[in-house]
Amino acid sequence: MTAVLAGLGTCLPPRVVGNRELSQRLDTSDDWIQARTGIHERRIADTGTTTVGMATSAADAALSDSGMADVDALVLATSTPDQLCPGSAPQVAAGLGLSGIPALDVNAACTGFLYALATAGGMLAAELAERVLVIGADTFSRLCDPDDRTTAPIFGDGAGAVVLRAGTAAEPGALGPFDLHADGTRANLLVVPAGGSKQRFSDNSHDYFLHMQGREVFRHACAKMAESVLAVLRVARLPLAGVDRLVGHQANLRILQTLAARLGLDEKHLVTNIGHVGNTSAASIPLALADAVDGGHLRPGHHVVLTAFGAGLTWGSSVLTWPPVRGNMQGHRIPEDSYEPVVR
Ligand code: ACO
Repeated sequence: MTAVLAGLGTCLPPRVVGNRELSQRLDTSDDWIQARTGIHERRIADTGTTTVGMATSAADAALSDSGMADVDALVLATSTPDQLCPGSAPQVAAGLGLSGIPALDVNAACTGFLYALATAGGMLAAELAERVLVIGADTFSRLCDPDDRTTAPIFGDGAGAVVLRAGTAAEPGALGPFDLHADGTRANLLVVPAGGSKQRFSDNSHDYFLHMQGREVFRHACAKMAESVLAVLRVARLPLAGVDRLVGHQANLRILQTLAARLGLDEKHLVTNIGHVGNTSAASIPLALADAVDGGHLRPGHHVVLTAFGAGLTWGSSVLTWPPVRGNMQGHRIPEDSYEPVVR
């Protein structure tokens, strides 16, 4: 059995924070942020809006897009769960009225959505499930020191979800192969030092925020995503000339442009929405897919490469032919009241 993409949904918190607003309290400028990252604005979750709420809203939208009433497993990619313990996936399942199904978190930072797709694909192949919800959701604004100009302008909050069903490799929407990697020797390049079992408490509040060595991460991101894209294309027997859309993790427009240049891919094949959402970590790829479909930039039959890079370090890629999935973007605005578990 192969995982086939059958529905797509998104959720973005309504509050838009533009570069000018940020530059009023940070030593930065609209010009610097736009020139160095391509970001104009990002969505920021208000108090009370959490990863679980956004993930539930995006999953609900994906389910309605797929026309399915339910699924029999749920995988949530996030590195900003509502609590350190338990995982957030069971609460998302409960919010959808699906208590009882297997539900787990996958923490692979910005590569999380690809790892979650592969995990769900494995569940389908092992016949543990016939339909699986895969969600990427992150609230990175909570991990960024609001006074740190090296991280606060980069990240935004949001969630995106897909419904996968068991199908065959020949169908449009069939996912795979996958190329996935990790290198824990470079964990220090993107790290939240305190809060985990290594350093449960710290007197320095900055230790609870994300520390990023941006320049080094940038270098590794370009090199590793290029390697991974070429590796996955080789296994898929898809020539670079056959790639219609490259949907990369939206970390920095310059990373995506460098990646395209290294691959020798025309920039017209790049899908980018970072300008409006920033780096939404695990939500990045499904949000980019939804924006591309909505804008007519991604159409059924397109050969699509997905690629991502993030903390861990982690990176990877996959391919699919875009199926006739329209995407449900109603969740681009989430309801004011938080999600309560519902009974289906
Ligand atoms: N405004 C103004 N100046 C700034 C800002 C800012 N917001 N941030 C940094 N600077 C300054 C620096 O202090 C430095 O000044 P100096 O030359 O006087 O020392 C200068 O700008 C250049 O700094 P760099 O860090 O080299 O800037 P760079 O061009 O590399 O851009 C950025 C920084 C945007 C963070 C980039 O390195 C990047 O995108 N890195 C990759 C991020 C990424 O891919 N993360 C992975 C996913 S995240 C995850 O997995 C959780």
